[in-house]
Amino acid sequence: MERTLAWDGAAVVAVDQCALPHERTVLRLTTPDEVIDAIKRLAIRGAPAIGVAGALAVALSAQLSDGDDQAVREDADRIANARPTAVNLSWAVRRVLTKLPGGARAVLDEALAMLEEDEQTNRAMAARAADAVLGLTGRRPLRIMTHCNTGSLATVAIGTALGGIKELAERGLVAEVLAGETRPLLQGARLTAWELTQAGIPFRLCVDSAGPAAIAAGLVDVVMVGADRITANGDVANKVGTYSLAVAAARSGIPFVVVAPESTVDESISDGSQIVIEQRHAEEVTAFGGHQVALPDTPVFNPAFDVTPNDLVTAIVTEQRVWPQRPAGHLAEVARGLYQR
Ligand code: MRU
Repeated sequence: MERTLAWDGAAVVAVDQCALPHERTVLRLTTPDEVIDAIKRLAIRGAPAIGVAGALAVALSAQLSDGDDQAVREDADRIANARPTAVNLSWAVRRVLTKLPGGARAVLDEALAMLEEDEQTNRAMAARAADAVLGLTGRRPLRIMTHCNTGSLATVAIGTALGGIKELAERGLVAEVLAGETRPLLQGARLTAWELTQAGIPFRLCVDSAGPAAIAAGLVDVVMVGADRITANGDVANKVGTYSLAVAAARSGIPFVVVAPESTVDESISDGSQIVIEQRHAEEVTAFGGHQVALPDTPVFNPAFDVTPNDLVTAIVTEQRVWPQRPAGHLAEVARGLYQR
């Protein structure tokens, strides 16, 4: 299957992102709980992908519930809360639930429409992101820093930031991508490196702490990342490690561009301080590749995401707009401000 997610008539079919890059296997999920489990253990991950998977899980629930709408609503609550930070999940669940009065077929039709829309949205976003980045940068071909995985695997197809990078590469404008490995679950090393290899785009993988240093050393022209939730004022929650890249980009005066669909924008929250940041298991940090590296009872701080304040963001690109566009000279002002602090 080409897409990361599909519906086979009775089940959600998903590329198993825990098995990549060594094996490309697919999961066939026939109950809402199987989908919830896949989302929680990151077999399905990335904000748009978990949104569409959540919508399909509600459709599964509606099919299995035999007209018991209360049971579907209870499942929908559990699905929406499988992971707290990416707003796409609760947004998608709410959207399909509006069709529940029309019956299971209406819920499924809406979920399938979202599956199709995601690919179209990403195609539009990729073109707009490529144009926006070209407008913000001078050097050709570009050296691009990215973080986590924002490609086909994080969506139904194509991707968000990595979709924009693929579009730039198709235009012959990418010299190199620097991909952060993305500790602790290595979405960069396992998934982005795999996608860049498949696409034939030149890249190097680096440890997360090398990213800001590469920017400071002048090795990067633009940072392109995705988002899990963007608040009304333009603050951006994304994979932990994003904030330090934004600080480094501002300090060096290079653009920091966020690429995300409109469904990631949460107008109900005024700023990033109100975003719930998912805290994950200690073992993700104390062990590496199945080997215990720290003592098992070591206390751990393991937030899955961080928040980048809007003044460090040069532009947010969605399928509909480029927002906010900072005035010329903004980057230099930000860099000066950081330098003086
Ligand atoms: O924990 P993950 O792997 O689901 O985190 C994903 C990210 O942080 C991505 O950058 C984000 O969802 C945007 S992907 C299109």
